[in-house]
Amino acid sequence: IQYQKGVKNLYENGVDHVPRKYILPVSERPNVINTEISSDSQINLQLPVIDFAELQGCNRSQALKSLAHACENYGFFQLVNHGIPDEIVSNMVNVSRRFFELPLSEREKYMSADTTSPVRYGTSFNQAVDGVFCWRDFLKLVCHPIQDVLPHWPSTPLDFRQLAVAYAEETRFLFLMLVKAIVESLGIKDSSKKGTESDKSDDDSLLLLSKEFENGSQLMVVNCYPPCPEPDLTLGMPPHSDYGLLTLLLQDEVKGLQIHHQDRWVTIQPVPGSFVVNVGDHLEIFSNGKYKSVLHRALVNSTKYRISIASLHSFPFTSTVRPLPNLISDESPRRYEDTDFASFLEYIKSCDSRKKSFLESRK
Ligand code: SIN
Ligand code: FE2
Repeated sequence: IQYQKGVKNLYENGVDHVPRKYILPVSERPNVINTEISSDSQINLQLPVIDFAELQGCNRSQALKSLAHACENYGFFQLVNHGIPDEIVSNMVNVSRRFFELPLSEREKYMSADTTSPVRYGTSFNQAVDGVFCWRDFLKLVCHPIQDVLPHWPSTPLDFRQLAVAYAEETRFLFLMLVKAIVESLGIKDSSKKGTESDKSDDDSLLLLSKEFENGSQLMVVNCYPPCPEPDLTLGMPPHSDYGLLTLLLQDEVKGLQIHHQDRWVTIQPVPGSFVVNVGDHLEIFSNGKYKSVLHRALVNSTKYRISIASLHSFPFTSTVRPLPNLISDESPRRYEDTDFASFLEYIKSCDSRKKSFLESRK
C-alpha cells in the first residue's frame, strides 16, 4: 500500500489529491484556508519572549518572573539568545533535509514498529493504530545515553551522526539550564548557593532532582512535511501535548505550528535564530498544575516543504513523576497522581493519530 511509504513518496509520485486515508472528519479539519502559505488570514500569536542571556546573567530574577508568567499563561515561549552557535543549528536542519532526500530504500532501513527503538523512521503519528493518517514523515532518535544509541543512528548522510550529536548535546545543555530556571521560578530556592540559612530537606531534594535531570531522557524528532495538494483536509501533526518536561522546537522558515490558546488555534510565526519551548505533561504534573502543557498541532501547505526538529527532554525513563512536595499544601492540594513512563508508553501504543493529551486521558 503506497501510503505506508510515507507522504514524501506520495508527493514525489505526483499525487494531486489527498488520499482518503488522510482525510479528517469535517469537525477535525483545520478550519482555515491555507492554500497560500504567504496569505495571512490566520490568527498569529506573539509568544512571550525569554532571553536566555538575561536568565543566565544579572537580570535573572526579572527573567524568572517572565518565565513563570509564560509557563502559566501560555505553556509556550520563544527562547532567544540561547547561545547555541548558528552553525550547529543550521547544520542540523541541513543534514535533516539531506536525510529526507535520500532514496526511500535508504530511509526505509530505519523503519521499525518498535516504539522503543533507538532510531525509528516512519510516517503519520502511530501507523499501527492511526485511523486517519497525518501528512508527516519523521525520524526519531533516542539521544541518551549517547554512547549506547549512536551506533544505531543513520550512517548516511555520512556526516549525519557528527552533526546530530553536536546539536543533541547543545540542546541537552540548554534544557539543563532551563529546567533549573524552571525549578527556581516555581519558588524552590537553592539555599546552598546563596549562603543563607539552609533548609536541609529542600537542599537534599534539589540535589536529587538535579541528578535526575542530568540523567534525564532525551528524544529528538525530525519532522518532514512535504507540500500537500489539499492542506485543508488533513494535518501534519494532530492536536497533542508533549509528554516530557520541556520540548525545544526548532522550526525552519515555513510556518505551520499552531497552539491552542484561549479556545482558539493560533499560528506561531517562526522567529529565525530562536527556539519555541513548551511545557510538557511531566512539567504540568511536577508543578502540580501551575504550569500548563498545551495542545498544539501542525498545518501543512500546498507549496513548501517544512522541517521541524523537536527535542523532548524529561526525567529518566525509569522515574516516577509526581508533584513537587514543596508545592503541595492545604491551600494547594495535590492535583495529580503519580505516573511513570511505563503507563505513558502503554497509552501511546494504544492511541490513534487523533490522540489528544496523556493528561486528558487520565482525567
Ligand atoms: C511537534 O509538535 O512536535 C511538532 C510541531 C511542528 O512541526 O511545528
Ligand atoms: Fe509536540
